[in-house]
Amino acid sequence: MQALPRERQGMARQRFDAAGERLLQPLRTLYGGHEGFEHWTLQLCAKLGSSLARRPAALQRLDTQREGQPDWFVRERLLGYMAYADRFGGSLAGVGERIEHLKDLGVGYLHLLPFLRARQGDSDGGFAVASFEEIEPALGDMADLENLCARLRDAGISLCADLVLNHVADDHAWALAAAAGDPAYRAFFHVFADRSEPDTYEASLGEVFPEAAPGNFSQVPAMNGWVWTTFYPYQWDLNYAHPPVFAAMAAALLGLANRGVEVFRLDSAPFLWKRQGTSCTNQPEVHLILAALRAVVDLVAPGVLLKAEAIMPTADIARYFGAGERAGRECQLAYHSGMMAAAWAGLAEGHPALLRQILENTPVPPIGAGWISYVRCHDDIVWNVLRPEVTAAGDDFAARMGAVAARLEGRDPESYGRGAAFQSGDDGQVHGSNGMTAALVGLPREVSTPADPAALRRIELMYALAFFAGTIPLIYMGDEIGQDNNHDAADAARQQADGRWLQRPRLDDAQLALARAGRGWPGAVLAAIRRLAALRRDPRFALDAPVQVLASGDPQVIVLRRGEAIGLFNFASEPVRVDPTAFDLDEAWSDQLDEQAGAALDMLPSWGSRWLLRT
Ligand code: GLC
Repeated sequence: MQALPRERQGMARQRFDAAGERLLQPLRTLYGGHEGFEHWTLQLCAKLGSSLARRPAALQRLDTQREGQPDWFVRERLLGYMAYADRFGGSLAGVGERIEHLKDLGVGYLHLLPFLRARQGDSDGGFAVASFEEIEPALGDMADLENLCARLRDAGISLCADLVLNHVADDHAWALAAAAGDPAYRAFFHVFADRSEPDTYEASLGEVFPEAAPGNFSQVPAMNGWVWTTFYPYQWDLNYAHPPVFAAMAAALLGLANRGVEVFRLDSAPFLWKRQGTSCTNQPEVHLILAALRAVVDLVAPGVLLKAEAIMPTADIARYFGAGERAGRECQLAYHSGMMAAAWAGLAEGHPALLRQILENTPVPPIGAGWISYVRCHDDIVWNVLRPEVTAAGDDFAARMGAVAARLEGRDPESYGRGAAFQSGDDGQVHGSNGMTAALVGLPREVSTPADPAALRRIELMYALAFFAGTIPLIYMGDEIGQDNNHDAADAARQQADGRWLQRPRLDDAQLALARAGRGWPGAVLAAIRRLAALRRDPRFALDAPVQVLASGDPQVIVLRRGEAIGLFNFASEPVRVDPTAFDLDEAWSDQLDEQAGAALDMLPSWGSRWLLRT
């Protein structure tokens, strides 16, 4: 184990004084009853010390800067971009060749979907991780990762990587050792000799892939029993009640942080703790685990951010920032999946009632924390996150969300969308919808086909809202040029097996070139996204100010205030005149999105959006 040089020992002591108890207290609650707990804790602390000793100087400098300014990412007004490394740049080195494109958009945060060595064969897009210490060979190696991180850092871009916390691939070394009969590794997983316990658990569990991977347990002959598999049968859930699992995942995180990863997307965070009679999501222990991981980061790599991937109802997600005395001491970032799904529902319904409900009830993040807003990502739009709001409105969930999904998926006569249903069976259950933004808003499949100006307004509406209301908005790769669904024949089989590949195309270089040349409707989409990105840098859009929902005087329009800015978003298929007295709309305001708007600020075209500032 590497010793910490004398000149850094004072800093380490200070950090331990500040964050040590925030590590030890949750660990005591989680694992204090285990034999040898004290010894285990000492070993863990020694490992943290050795990670600290190995932390490269350039990253230490980031730590020092950010330690004094925990809301650095809010102040820097980071704009995010997310992509699969292979679909974006071919390889990690290839991603480096795309930095100019990111800089051109003003991106300061790049989330690359899983790039660690994945399971052989099906790997859930890399979310079945076979090694936390190796890169997927087709994408490069660890030296490529370090190089890419350094290049991005030089360009002012932080790399975000997935840390798949909940499970590993069935060919990860821990799973292989368990299957070979090693009891130390069998304890890493939830294994049951017969169906009796799984059956009692199942009574209160949901299903993530009800069609493709029904149930939450898989029979594994090599394990002589049933293994907990929330997602695909080859993704084995880790048992966080077993202390070595926590230590191993903390080590995986720090290993990647020391390579230069600056943000970790904590994949499937809600599922880490199991309890009979519950949905086995969002359990109190999950928050203890995350608080302990945050303390690990604060001790060793305080320049690093944690981001919760909790695709849950809004009230549950807010707790991933930490609640009560742990406020601000879990994840700094969390996806606002409710806002995203409600915006799509608003588009489909022609009014933003659900969005209004969601935003009115969205807790303001603690200082040094913020919401990730987004329009699309690599997954389906999960409708279930809106269940509490739909139920509170007194509506039948399946009927209301079924109609929303049908509209976006091109299954009703009024549809302009070209999405597809995901895992939504014939039993009337509505699960998720797939599709790229461009396809869902009704942009043409071919760039040579003229676009309906209304479709252009719809894509701008969705991005204008996400850019206005989030702390870090994300552009999903391809959206900036209006790229269509994935039609690549090479992906047909995977798409057949998992419909989410519909929104995972390769970046279309011809379309990008067209857009960059300012030609065709892709040029218009890129111009709109660039404009939004530039406007968002104006300090009057105070990113630390809460997003307030104002009265609009019209149910089809949502009016938001943030700092000194007001955003108007019309979800209706017809022009709407808002009541200017409802929110002091006078001639002192001007629209930053449409300079032609002039004084007619109260008139919004169908699907029109405005960002107003006082002149
Ligand atoms: C996350 C990912 C998703 C994956 C799942 C299991 O939800 O976004 O793509 O299937 O985790 O790892």
